[in-house]
Amino acid sequence: MAKIQAIQAREILDSRGIPTVEASLWLDNGMAVTTAVPSGTSTSRRETVELRDKQDDRYFGQGVLKAVQNVNEILAPKLKGMDPSQQQQIDRMMMELDGTPNKSRLGGNAILAVSQAVCKAAAAMYMLPLYEYIAKKYQLVREALFIPTPIFNVINGGKHGAGNLDFQEFHVIPSSRFPFNEALEIGAEVYHAIEQALINNNAIHSVGVEGGFAPNLFTNQDALELILEAIKMTRHQFSHDVFLGLDVAASTFYRGGKYIIKDRSHGYSTKDFIEYYKDLNERYHLFSLEDPLFEEDWEGWKQLTQDLGKDTMIVGDDLLSTNKELIGKAIQSGACSAVLVKPNQIGTISETVEVVMLAREAGWHVIVSHRSGETTDSFIADFAVGVGADYTKFGAPARGERVVKYNRLLQIEGVLAASQSLVANQQQRSKTSG
Ligand code: PGA
Ligand code: ZN
Repeated sequence: MAKIQAIQAREILDSRGIPTVEASLWLDNGMAVTTAVPSGTSTSRRETVELRDKQDDRYFGQGVLKAVQNVNEILAPKLKGMDPSQQQQIDRMMMELDGTPNKSRLGGNAILAVSQAVCKAAAAMYMLPLYEYIAKKYQLVREALFIPTPIFNVINGGKHGAGNLDFQEFHVIPSSRFPFNEALEIGAEVYHAIEQALINNNAIHSVGVEGGFAPNLFTNQDALELILEAIKMTRHQFSHDVFLGLDVAASTFYRGGKYIIKDRSHGYSTKDFIEYYKDLNERYHLFSLEDPLFEEDWEGWKQLTQDLGKDTMIVGDDLLSTNKELIGKAIQSGACSAVLVKPNQIGTISETVEVVMLAREAGWHVIVSHRSGETTDSFIADFAVGVGADYTKFGAPARGERVVKYNRLLQIEGVLAASQSLVANQQQRSKTSG
């Protein structure tokens, strides 16, 4: 068994040009790994605290030098000599050293950078690909490993867009019957068709923070129409090969007890907004609906899940914040039917895995997600495969920090296909020779 010899963190930039934390970890057998943590733009109130320097004028107060210092001076000396396969013990120790319920002393960004590095280092120590190490360690995938179905974010609104849409993300989701490489083709072809449709309409075709287009349109519903128009330009059939979904991020436009969006000047009460979703669903057969209501509107969520949850995945992101207490509450009350899993909302790998386990036990769908502020680390792709996620949400099929995750899934798909056909061949041979 190798031991942790050293950990060094540093401040790097994320895809938005905002600082984030990267950590390198060395084992005493000479192996080294490096990993970086992402950061959200539309964060919920319940997420762990991302430690930012604030008082100084570097990066408008967004620097992460304190978090880096906490890794280098507090966490690294404590972890030296520990076995990296003891993820739970290490994560618990970091939480105790932090001593706050929301990781605000050392920083969720500092703690997660180390937690991810420990996970990667253990995989390296066992000489396993990261996804396989995670699968073997947590045993969440019952049969053969598989690649989750990708949810592509093709239009960026809300806090993510440069345009004027209220809804944050407009998704296309290929049918789960396609192998991942074909699903990626569908996503990329629809993405390019949207660009062409925008050009045809003389509309802006620049992109938002997750690589999706950020046009100026009259209503949010127009964005769904635009995607339908684009799908028609491809060889794929709407509602058969490819489906639509939304991450509304409704907390961002909930004001004074109303949902204020450009589709209706006087806004919607919860009851009216649920009716609005039902109408939308009639036309667009929404496959998934993420954060459709304000993150404290639990009664509304329950009602919406009762009304639409049979055919549409009702996904809790801001509502649940990858927090096991909140998921417990949502499972009990039937507030949604799927969880968006983002390790940096909770701050350690062990706690993230616990959330996946809870969701699984409840028969929920699991969507493993990136953040709007990403790096070129593809840790999250391996994590999604390793825990057997049903879906991934990694943004548009464009821009380096998004594409690196899709390309990693392609690599894993290739390796799995080769090894699974090897296993099938071996089984076949042992049958015929036995
Ligand atoms: P965020 O957005 O990373 O800016 O929070 C992603 C999401 O809401 O799913
Ligand atoms: Zn979301």
